[in-house]
Amino acid sequence: MGTIAVVGSLNMDVSYRVAHIPAPGETVLARGVTKSPGGKGGNQAVAAAKMGAQVAMIGCVGRDGDGEALRASLRGAGVDDALVAACDEPTGTAFICVSDAGENNIVVHAGANGCVDAAVLARARARLAGAQICVVQLEIPHETAWAALRLCRELGVFTALNPSPACQVPAQALQGLDLLVPNETEMAALLGREADPAADLPRFARETGVRRILMTVGAQGCYLADAQGVRHFPAQPVRAVDTTGAGDTFLGALCAMLAEGRPVEEAIDVAQRAAALTVQRMGAQQAMPSRAQVL
Ligand code: RIB
Repeated sequence: MGTIAVVGSLNMDVSYRVAHIPAPGETVLARGVTKSPGGKGGNQAVAAAKMGAQVAMIGCVGRDGDGEALRASLRGAGVDDALVAACDEPTGTAFICVSDAGENNIVVHAGANGCVDAAVLARARARLAGAQICVVQLEIPHETAWAALRLCRELGVFTALNPSPACQVPAQALQGLDLLVPNETEMAALLGREADPAADLPRFARETGVRRILMTVGAQGCYLADAQGVRHFPAQPVRAVDTTGAGDTFLGALCAMLAEGRPVEEAIDVAQRAAALTVQRMGAQQAMPSRAQVL
């Protein structure tokens, strides 16, 4: 069983089911609304735990009902929430529109996620030191995210960064990173233009000092750039009802497999199967499959 530490966000997702994603200035009527546990950090932690990894979540929630519900979801999936701190800000929320085509758009209010600071990280030091993999995303203050990556590199822990939401990442945060997992939009933000995987991924890795890049391209699968070159891994065709949390499922399951010592090709195959199951159900954490369902 692999041990994973996730440093990241916890949000209560409020998802509206709509015929199509509203254009700027447009009002649409929702057919339904649901509240369910999400946040990129929490989602990745739950996905990894459901695949059998031992997972610790490092983050913050508010002293409110949403915070309690998010903790309960973590614990229900077997994630250790002892390093989830409580702060005086309201728990993070995400406003999500899910269209009939299964696409979404998301607005996040960070709330308590903004309290994930140096003190929260310092309390997690021993747990990070004992982890095989540390996974970080960017819905928490960026200086904490970079500090977590730096600390884990000093501790010799394998580091994975999901640069989401899309932004520029400083050179020091990329240097020596073991695994960068962007989607197409996030890779474009890093490059300053749309990526041509075959040419851009190896060049970006070489120039920044990232050891391995795994770029996800939705229904088209993913591209892996590592010492063996660039390889495309097509995804299985499925009918998506809600893609919320698909990328998080992919990364959480991938890390669970890597922490078990599985070869990267096998880890990608399992992660793609897990994500394919998630998109066929509504919600993020509640849609994630168990190890038995995936395997
Ligand atoms: O990646 C999906 C997640 O993004 C949602 O659960 C939402 O909370 C936002 O963080």
